Amino acid sequence: MDMYEKVIELARRRGFIWPAFELYGGSAGFYDYGPLGAPLKRGIEDLWRGFFVIREGFCEIECPTIGVEEIFKASGHLSGFSDPLTECQECREIYRADHLIKHIVEVPDALANEEIYRVIKENDVFCPECGGDLSEIYEFNLMFRTSIGPGGKQPGYLRPETAQGMFVNFQRLLRHYRDRLPFGAVQIGKSYRNEISPRQGVIRLREFTQAEAEIFINPADKSHPRFGEVADLVLTLYSQEAQERGEAEEMTVSEAVAKGIIAHEILGYYVARTYQFLLEAGLSEDKLRFRQHKADEMAHYAADCWDAEALLDRFGWIEIVGVADRTNYDLRSHMAQSQANLTVYLPLDLPRREERLVVRPDMKRLGPLFRKGAKAVADALSALPMEELKRDPIVVVVDGERVEVDPDLVAFEMEEVEVRGEEVVPHVIEPSFGIDRILYSVLEHSYREEEVEGETRAVLALKNRVVPIQVAVLPLMDRDELSGPAEEIARELRALDLRVEYDSSGSIGRRYRRNDEVGTPYSITIDYETLEEGTVTIRDRDSMAQIRVARSEIAEKIPALLRGERGFSEAGTPLGG
Ligand code: GLY
Repeated sequence: MDMYEKVIELARRRGFIWPAFELYGGSAGFYDYGPLGAPLKRGIEDLWRGFFVIREGFCEIECPTIGVEEIFKASGHLSGFSDPLTECQECREIYRADHLIKHIVEVPDALANEEIYRVIKENDVFCPECGGDLSEIYEFNLMFRTSIGPGGKQPGYLRPETAQGMFVNFQRLLRHYRDRLPFGAVQIGKSYRNEISPRQGVIRLREFTQAEAEIFINPADKSHPRFGEVADLVLTLYSQEAQERGEAEEMTVSEAVAKGIIAHEILGYYVARTYQFLLEAGLSEDKLRFRQHKADEMAHYAADCWDAEALLDRFGWIEIVGVADRTNYDLRSHMAQSQANLTVYLPLDLPRREERLVVRPDMKRLGPLFRKGAKAVADALSALPMEELKRDPIVVVVDGERVEVDPDLVAFEMEEVEVRGEEVVPHVIEPSFGIDRILYSVLEHSYREEEVEGETRAVLALKNRVVPIQVAVLPLMDRDELSGPAEEIARELRALDLRVEYDSSGSIGRRYRRNDEVGTPYSITIDYETLEEGTVTIRDRDSMAQIRVARSEIAEKIPALLRGERGFSEAGTPLGG
């Protein structure tokens, strides 16, 4: 059994992750989170909120998971969000063509379709199922299409990323932040991608949860006021150049920014925060690196992108987070698509005088042509950016109507003006987290087996912050005199908002093992000494050490242990053996 099989077997058996729709044979790329998986996922999401909502001060919003077509026209997903496919000419099985040459080319998704096809032909790659010839490459759009309302007239798409919700709400968000940059907005929610035959189990899902922050910044200022807090953090970086050499390198964030390996402070700052978050979620430091996208691998909107990658036993290095500089790509595209003004007015520190070309619509000729609409056309012309005014014909939108204007009807004059500020389209830095992949990586990196008294003990050493069961309450035997006080302890801990498992079935040893393998950090045993002396045993998952604690101190000590405010052995009287 490899690590993936072990972890997935445990995850299914104990209710972390279940294949969805199993009753009806299941469907690849869809999974359910069971009674332990759902709280683990929520724990990871809440930890993320702590980082990006609470500590960064970004607001959280929630948008529909279905979007209208215009959004994805503007975002580029309608035309550019596709994967290269090839089809077996014999058995008609369809494959993601770049995945078939992964063992030959290091970054196959950087190749053009003709190049992928050439690699397939030159390296005798055939259908993995039947050995048949593979077809030329064609593109398949990954968005799920649906229609809104009856009649099928209005197309809609299940969103492929949550990010667009922040872009289309830009004007309202800007107002929320009182028209100042920088600001950030986040969203945690489902996204959908119609992956082609997903074969990597829980790693490649068709419905998945993203946690994304869109941070709108002044393009002229890519410094970060809190950069000093992370400057000395040492990261494993696999930059574009390091990838040429085939070796990742360790360096501080400040060194990486100073050398231009990470483009600027803001990007460096969020790469560092991503690293801190992933460690707190439970990823292993030595199985985590940041890989820079190669220029030809970058998403259509990105100028620079660093992926956090987790090393997984079966799949190798897997992207779990992308931290991208999306520049002003999305806002510009939405401005063009919607004709709305998605700029921010930034006052200058010192006003300056400037010669400026101003537009003078010829009202004498516009009047007869556009009659009552002439003033609106003239205003629209005056508001156009210079590059639009250079077109022939010039196109303006008035009351939602597209109007063409002959350039002869517009004159230009130089004028000296005092400039007090300028309209800018903000740039966007986007840390984008794949919560499901992070959750699986946390499970795999937390899993260990050890020999204890001739038996194998499986332990999920989850972090207290994300663990689904925080404390187990175990009466030594299922007898009324013990279960009564045990139930009372469980009630008392639940009243403190703790997630408590009450378990009275089977030997105490088996119950400890059951809790070890789902990561329960502490187990409380209620025995006859509890009745006689008023004490209980608390057992630590990782060391298996036990301490004796007064019954009356449980409500204070368990939360303190969970918060890491107390060392385990100092929290009570150690028990030998
Ligand atoms: N928003 C980035 C992504 O979905 O990949």
